[in-house]
Amino acid sequence: MSLRGLGTVAIVGLFAVALQVGILYKQSLHVKAPEVPEPVACLAFDHAAALDRFRRLLTFPTVSSKETPDHVTDHEAMRGMLEHLEQSYPAVWRTMTVEEVGAGGYSRLLTWHGSDTSLDPVLFISHYDVVPVTPGTEGEWKHGPFSGDVADGYVWGRGTIDIKFSVAALLEAATALIQGGGLVQPTRTLMFAFGHDEEVGGGLGANATARLLASRGVRLAAVLDEGGAVLADGMRPFVTDTPVALVGLAEKGYSVIRVVLRSPGGHASMPPTDGSDIGTQVWRLYSALLVLQTPTQLAAPVTDMLRELAPYAPPVMRPLLANADARQSWFVNRLLGFAFRRLLSRDTAAMVADTIATTRLICGVADNVLPQEGTVSFNVRVLPGHTPGHVVEHLRRALKLARIRGAEVQLVEESAWAGSAVTSAAGRPFQLLRRAIQESWPRPKGQPHTALPVIPMLVMGGTDSKHYAPLSEGGILRFVPFGLNKTAGDLGLIHSTNERIPADDFRKAVCVYARVLQLMGSDWSAEPVAAAAAAA
Ligand SMILES: *[C@@H]1O[C@H](CO)[C@@H](O)[C@H](O)[C@H]1NC(C)=O
Ligand SMILES: *[C@@H]1O[C@H](CO)[C@@H](O)[C@H](O)[C@H]1NC(C)=O
Repeated sequence: MSLRGLGTVAIVGLFAVALQVGILYKQSLHVKAPEVPEPVACLAFDHAAALDRFRRLLTFPTVSSKETPDHVTDHEAMRGMLEHLEQSYPAVWRTMTVEEVGAGGYSRLLTWHGSDTSLDPVLFISHYDVVPVTPGTEGEWKHGPFSGDVADGYVWGRGTIDIKFSVAALLEAATALIQGGGLVQPTRTLMFAFGHDEEVGGGLGANATARLLASRGVRLAAVLDEGGAVLADGMRPFVTDTPVALVGLAEKGYSVIRVVLRSPGGHASMPPTDGSDIGTQVWRLYSALLVLQTPTQLAAPVTDMLRELAPYAPPVMRPLLANADARQSWFVNRLLGFAFRRLLSRDTAAMVADTIATTRLICGVADNVLPQEGTVSFNVRVLPGHTPGHVVEHLRRALKLARIRGAEVQLVEESAWAGSAVTSAAGRPFQLLRRAIQESWPRPKGQPHTALPVIPMLVMGGTDSKHYAPLSEGGILRFVPFGLNKTAGDLGLIHSTNERIPADDFRKAVCVYARVLQLMGSDWSAEPVAAAAAAA
């Protein structure tokens, strides 16, 4: 091509990009945050007494384990904890039907019967089992993992973030409504399912509760589970440094996939020169996986998240965020997908692709023997709409590219979950939750019209809600009303040393839950969806 031809192509190209940027900019001018509701005063309740009941809940070491027949490690602790619940929230036990479910009867299903039985119930899920404290790290806790201490403005202990917090706050909110809030009976039935083995998959707790509900033909109008929280220091650096509430509208699937490699083996003094030894096969497999990346896919609810964040972001970011939707702009979708995958952080990369992480490499019997077999264990997380089978195929393609013969790809079936369905950000359940959070979460001083932004997101881990997914008509929402501060390293405290939560967040959570229970417990099926449509 002549110099002149190149120049023409460059000018046309620049013009096209400028035009696209102009269109995006113009579209982003109309971006507005959803209308903010009037604040609603919190119900009267005794904070100090409520906090005390929560602290005592934390003192029971209700660690779950796959190694015991009922997934309980300390039966005395589990029974003591269940007794504590019954004695601490007597109004709930009096008002609701309480059923013992699952292995040993250790999970609980509470039903607060509504006056209109034609309405499908809303289910609130949580769990009171916790992960163990890593042996040898006990001394590193500033306050004992089962102390329930309140100090320096925090409540300390295993189960604060994950997630006795929500068990206690939900029961406290229901108590406040029954005793002083004028809600002795909701219109719509509200249910609470508390599991005893969520941390090991919920196979004997939530699984049994879900099957019990299914056997009764129960359909759920909405489900509220853990998974999202308030990011106290915002989403830095590109979006906002004021707090945002993130609500999980989908979660990634989970599986373990093993690749078993085979080799003739032999004496280590004469290794093969054709790359057939296990070590070189592993290297070839990883080389192929580097070339053959899982595809980048920017889809809901991540696109919902970006679009809903647009009004809160600096003006230069708005055109990009507001147009995050494959159908609207191929250009923006590609750009954002690339940025998420390659430029930002490992948590953004995990939002836009199936991830394949090596967790175990098992091979070899002696220092001077070439192994005849080697196993690579991959922990795999797939996007909503994907199944572990997608990754099995991907690994087969990688083996083929690496020209590895005789290898086997095994999906560990009992651990295989597909990515969840995506709850609609325009649907009533999400809109109601957003309203309750915005009405009840305290507003900044002197800014009565600034409510907490409530934003959809994708949950990377797995929750008990997957067991209830087949029963859910209105979708699953994943959110606990407490603040985590990313800058202070709070995300690293989950399942780790010095797990703690700001003490005042417990009070805020009771207020938010009480409002959620009021709204969800009403007949909202016939209300207009105008607000939802405006936000969508
Ligand atoms: C749920 O329980 C049933 C019956 O005990 C069992 O067959 C099934 O594998 C369990 N499912 C999960 C996901 O744990
Ligand atoms: C978050 O933590 C950082 C570092 O500890 C602190 O400077 C900041 O004030 C915290 N933000 C909020 C909102 O608590």
